[in-house]
Amino acid sequence: MDAHVDQSKLPEDARAFCDDVLSGLSQPQKELPCKYFYDERGSKLFDAICRLDEYYPTRTETALLDTYGDEIAGLIGPAACLIEYGCGSLVKTRLLIDALDRPSLFVPIDISEEHLLRSAQELAEDYQDLDVRPLVADFTQALDLPDGDLPDGDLPDGDLPDGGLEDEGFGKKENCVGFFPGSTIGNFDHEAAVAFLRTVSETVGSGGGLLIGVDLKKDTETLIRAYDDAEGVTAAFNLNVIERINRELDGNFDVSAFSHQAQYNAEAGRIEIHLVSQKAQTVHIQGRDFNFSEGETIHTENSYKYHIKEFEALAAKAGFSPVKTWVDENGLFSLHYLTVAE
Ligand code: TRP
Repeated sequence: MDAHVDQSKLPEDARAFCDDVLSGLSQPQKELPCKYFYDERGSKLFDAICRLDEYYPTRTETALLDTYGDEIAGLIGPAACLIEYGCGSLVKTRLLIDALDRPSLFVPIDISEEHLLRSAQELAEDYQDLDVRPLVADFTQALDLPDGDLPDGDLPDGDLPDGGLEDEGFGKKENCVGFFPGSTIGNFDHEAAVAFLRTVSETVGSGGGLLIGVDLKKDTETLIRAYDDAEGVTAAFNLNVIERINRELDGNFDVSAFSHQAQYNAEAGRIEIHLVSQKAQTVHIQGRDFNFSEGETIHTENSYKYHIKEFEALAAKAGFSPVKTWVDENGLFSLHYLTVAE
């Protein structure tokens, strides 16, 4: 096969996907960036994961928000500007907004424009007094909230003033609070987690806050079941990333010759997700060949787990001080409110 296939016909997003796939599969330990899990089908499968009995994080975190909403609102104070990093179904966001005392501004940030604008529009319709201003950006990259580069989504309030968020009190960083639920922080390694938290602390500014969900260390069996459920929903979610390569990049993965694997690495304190090749095989993608030996894996995700003190130490490196932490009665999941010292 020709190794120099012309990729210029691919649209820009597909080209980035293609580049990341080809380079990830060329590493000695093959890997795929986890952000590619979330196409239309992947997002639906992830929603199904969140409803599984075995996947305790979603319902536990939702219950914490529900139970302690008033206390959280009291700490955050009135007229908050809320910035959500990554925007899922917004179920948790609605709980938080309902609890807060007249939040002034909500900025959901997500890489998936269509999904973001749709969710933001729905939210804006339900909360007429709330200024909703979605921002299309990859929050895993250093996020520099620019003055001008703000959404022009078809929202009720129309365009932003020239000064962007600055004129909305954002630049002055008054009562700005980041919201990062779902233990997505666990999908960064420690160094990247600190770097991300630092961009959040810089964005919210001194006196600003962060409400963040963090999954806790616990027995290995409970952890594994959460990432390898009996119905195989998580397996389907993991395998979807190679099906997506077949669909969008004209790959020829034999999906039935790969299997889902979730292991807990106690030393590193993380769940490690892989796709395991069931036999020696060669996969063709965009004119390139990738050889797999039997048992060779593609690493697709890590999910770090923390002790409360470990997470607080990590957040301290990014300038955050703990204010209050809430944990469910079974000690499964934690919700932290932290602030940047004034
Ligand atoms: N942020 C989620 C977590 O770490 C993502 C996730 C849940 C996930 N289940 C998964 C990622 C299975 C890959 C495979 O819990």
